[in-house]
Amino acid sequence: MKKKFRHFLNLNELDIKDMNLILSESHKIKKNYKKKKFNEKKILAMIFEKPSTRTRVSFEVGMKQLDGDVVILDHADTQLGRGESLEDTMKVLSKYVDIVVYRGSNEKKLYDLSKLSTVPIINGLTDESHPCQIMADIMTLQENFDSLDELKICWVGDGNNVCNSWIHSCVHFNYDFKISCPPGSFPKKELLKRIGSSNIELYEDPYEAVKDADVIITDTWVSMGMENDPERLKKFKKFQINEKLMEKTNKDTYFLHCLPAHRGCEVTDEVIDGKKSLVWSEAENRLYAHQAILLWCMNLI
Ligand code: CP
Ligand code: NVA
Repeated sequence: MKKKFRHFLNLNELDIKDMNLILSESHKIKKNYKKKKFNEKKILAMIFEKPSTRTRVSFEVGMKQLDGDVVILDHADTQLGRGESLEDTMKVLSKYVDIVVYRGSNEKKLYDLSKLSTVPIINGLTDESHPCQIMADIMTLQENFDSLDELKICWVGDGNNVCNSWIHSCVHFNYDFKISCPPGSFPKKELLKRIGSSNIELYEDPYEAVKDADVIITDTWVSMGMENDPERLKKFKKFQINEKLMEKTNKDTYFLHCLPAHRGCEVTDEVIDGKKSLVWSEAENRLYAHQAILLWCMNLI
């Protein structure tokens, strides 16, 4: 029997068939934007324990374009901010809404929620992962390359939640994924071991790592929740994506960044505003990818 709904938690847990289904639906939605609608009204609740612009607005607009609606729960102005547990909140929300996006720190909490929820849960970012972002990123690469299989993708900077979700994606795609970080900022060894992809390589020297790269990706050096450690910025200086680094690839290389960007830190204006920057398509594609994820979770594709 077909499952009534599906959670969208992490990319390595998805079937490749589902991954491709969501991606092809994302492209279809983009081509026919505003035409796809729910047969009956659906309501999305979004729980934000951390700030958001893109995730929040693209899910909200996406739901409204599908003829659904949205309720936003900011930590501070709900009972969550006064200590009501997420678990109790979820038990109640499951009775009111059809689907939930959760953005918070603790990945375990996301999984605990998914176990007790009777409606689908979407991972809107945790300290460990950001799968929705990578769906839009992969969609963006598919728009610019005939195939992803032979690509050389290079992550430079902090081995953070976004990098982790790229690592998760390596179970589905054959691209080479090189990761260059300062010592102490590489993704966790257990994750690399668990994913076990022979296409992933680690480099301490970003200038070595980017050779031949078709795509360079970075993200902030200071993720949400890490703001109290100004010392950490010093070790990242060599990892800035600037023209000098881009030239080391010896080819025309695209640039991705999930945003928000810290211009002059992890990326220079020349690169983010340059001809090979895909960041604005990447941000736009969140809208279509999220609509496809919503439909997939509710078993509507
Ligand atoms: N890239 C991303 O998730 O952006 P927001 O934090 O603005 O949602
Ligand atoms: N790594 C960043 C991503 C923001 C979308 C953070 O967690 O703050």
